[in-house]
Order: sequence, then C-alpha cells, then structure tokens
Amino acid sequence: MSALFESYNLAGTTLSNRVVMAPMTRSRAPDDIADVSTALYYAQRATAGLIVTEGTPISREGQGYLFNPGIFSGEQIAGWRLTTQSVHAVGGRIFAQLWHVGRVSHPSIQADGRDPVSASSKIAEGATAYGYDEDGKAGPIATTAPRQLTTEEVARVVEDFAQAARNAVEAGFDGVEIHGANGYLLEQFLNPGVNDRKDRYAADTLENRLRFVLEVVDAVTNAIGRKRTGIRISPFGQLFDMPLYDDIAETYGALLAALGERRIAYVHVMDQSGFSDIRGDTKVTTSDKIHSLLRTAKPDLKDTAVILAGGLNRQRAESLIADGTIDLAGFGKPFISNPDLVARMRRDWPLASADADTFYGGTMVGYIDYPAYDAR
Ligand SMILES: Cc1cc2nc3c(=O)[nH]c(=O)nc-3n(C[C@H](O)[C@H](O)[C@H](O)COP(=O)(O)O)c2cc1C
Repeated sequence: MSALFESYNLAGTTLSNRVVMAPMTRSRAPDDIADVSTALYYAQRATAGLIVTEGTPISREGQGYLFNPGIFSGEQIAGWRLTTQSVHAVGGRIFAQLWHVGRVSHPSIQADGRDPVSASSKIAEGATAYGYDEDGKAGPIATTAPRQLTTEEVARVVEDFAQAARNAVEAGFDGVEIHGANGYLLEQFLNPGVNDRKDRYAADTLENRLRFVLEVVDAVTNAIGRKRTGIRISPFGQLFDMPLYDDIAETYGALLAALGERRIAYVHVMDQSGFSDIRGDTKVTTSDKIHSLLRTAKPDLKDTAVILAGGLNRQRAESLIADGTIDLAGFGKPFISNPDLVARMRRDWPLASADADTFYGGTMVGYIDYPAYDAR
C-alpha cells in the first residue's frame, strides 16, 4: 500500500494516515466563537490523518478578519471543545493554528479602534483585512498603517501565543501550529524588507530577525511541550506585500536548523505558487526552491516531521514522500469539497471541485453540505 495511507507517528501522536487537512479560514463564526457547525465541518473531514484548524486568533489584537473563531476567551475555548470532542469521537486528530495577523488588520476590528500592531511601521500595500466600513457594514477593507510594537510589548505578544497554546490544550486540541506563514506577524519580523526595527528584533542580523519566531516557539513548547508544537512557514512567499530578498534560502535554512534543534513535532511548509501571483525568477520555480530547501534541511530535522501543502495531488504527494523530501502531505481546497478526500484518493474516485464563492463567510452552503462520494 502507498505510504500516504499508512499510519504515522507524529511525535507520539498516532495519525491514521499521512494526509493533512491544511488550515483554512472559513469565516463562519458570527461571534468569533466556534460552534456546532464548526464541529460538524471538522468531524466530516476527520479521516484526514491530521486536521489543522483555520487560523484562530490568539488575541483581539491578532485578528484581521471578522467571524474567525478565536482562542483567547473562555467562551471561545468552550466553543472549540465541541470540535475537538467531535473529531476525536470519530478517531481524528486535530491541531489549532495559532494566528496573529500583525499589520494585516484594520482599526474597525481592533479594541477601541486602535491601530493594528506589527514588527514594522510600514503599511501592507494592497492588502485587505475584513472589517467594518464607515457605515458599520462588514466587508473587505484596505489595511491601514500599523504601529510598531515596542520591545516590551513583543514579550507580551510572545506570552499571548503561550497562553493561546494552553487554551488550545484546555479546549482538547492534540497540539498547535504556530502561524508563521503568509505575510502575518511572524513573517513581518522575518522579512528584512518589512522589519524596520532598531532593537534586538531588528533586521540587521539573521539572529535578530529570527529572534521573535524562536521566542514564540520556545514559549509555546515551554507551555505545552515540544511534541504538541508545530509551525507553519512559507519560504519565498509574497502574500500581503512580502518582498523577496537575497538570503531567503539562508534565512529559512537557519530557521529550520533551529527548529530541528528544538525537536518540535513538525514544520508545515506552504508553497504559495499557484495560490498567489508569485513574481520573480521563472527558470527555477518556487516549488523547486522549496523542495531543495527541504532536502538540505532534512538532516537537521531528525525528530521533526515535514509537511508540505500547496498544489499537491495523490501522485505528487506520494513521490515527495517516497524520495524523502516530506513526511506528510497537506491538502487545502480539495478538503473543502471532498470531506472524504482520503478515501477518494485511496480508491482513485473522482474529486469534486470547490466553489470559490463560498470559501469565506456566508451560509452553511459550501461549508457542511459537500457529500461524501457515492460509490454505488
Ligand atoms: C479558503 C482558504 C482559506 C485559507 N486559510 C488559511 C489559513 O487560515 N491559514 C493558513 O496558513 N493557510 C490558509 N490557506 C492556505 C491553505 O492552507 C493551503 O496551504 C493552500 O490552499 C494550498 O493548498 P491547496 O493547493 O491544496 O489548496 C487557505 C486556503 C484557502 C483556499
């Protein structure tokens, strides 16, 4: 049988296969609290070896979109418990994606209309948050200039991540995935084209640029243990005004080595090609660069599994697992429209395509009404 469908020991958590449901924001939590429909949606998809939830804001400050279920209040923790219990009841495993958007936000979403915060004081040009317009109507809204976090505040944000990790365990999650990808707060520290700080988190040295990310990882592992800690990164990603820079490979190589030393459960790499407009060198594709980065880093990641997501299908996933580039394969959009994706891939049943109009927000249509394949 293909390794993709065999069980896998993820730092002590047994997964029934190597298929991971990638984190996907669905914006269907009216009060920012996960509810019964959230629980049903994830339970329908629990034959994935591992589910990673949609990004769950670690604080009000970390929120950039309305209707995303957070993980900082008691009600939110209780709300998520419905999901974790439902997924576990049918034999699934689930990690919560801990999310701070940084500058990809808007005062209308922040407490008392404050400015969003970031590593930087630079605006995310062309980016949109999802907040309220002047008439109080919810919708996409251009991001505004952030306020740069002070050095003391950075420590508080690190602790917010640790507390959110404790909350996730309290809610029954098997672990957490720190969201270090896609142009949000952690990447705003990592990227020298965005990070304009002057303190020990500045972009002047690689060590300083990595400091925040590693402090978050250390705080979370101290809070809930390395075996329950994963992180998502998106090397070469340009989402939300992340400029490319010269030493991207060196930056992520050093980060992967540092993560390997910490022996966390996994590193989840998102390949953004195909998801956003990746500009730049076309002779060597972004995917090639990511694969080569991962192969180089593999010896440093002895106790840390590698997940890759972005444009995978069964065959690509199997060949990347077979040649040792990755350990687990992440699937996003296919899981929206194929709750039984694992069975469909395994049996070569056809896949349903997802309706992009119902990705975010709206009703239960396009959320919990995609059927499993009828093989009769
Ligand atoms: C509707 C939607 C919402 C997403 N939300 C998130 C998110 O909250 N956090 C995240 O890290 N990635 C998010 N992603 C990216 C996915 O996790 C995944 O990496 C991407 O869709 C590429 O995989 P695919 O080609 O299999 O869809 C989202 C993607 C989609 C389609």
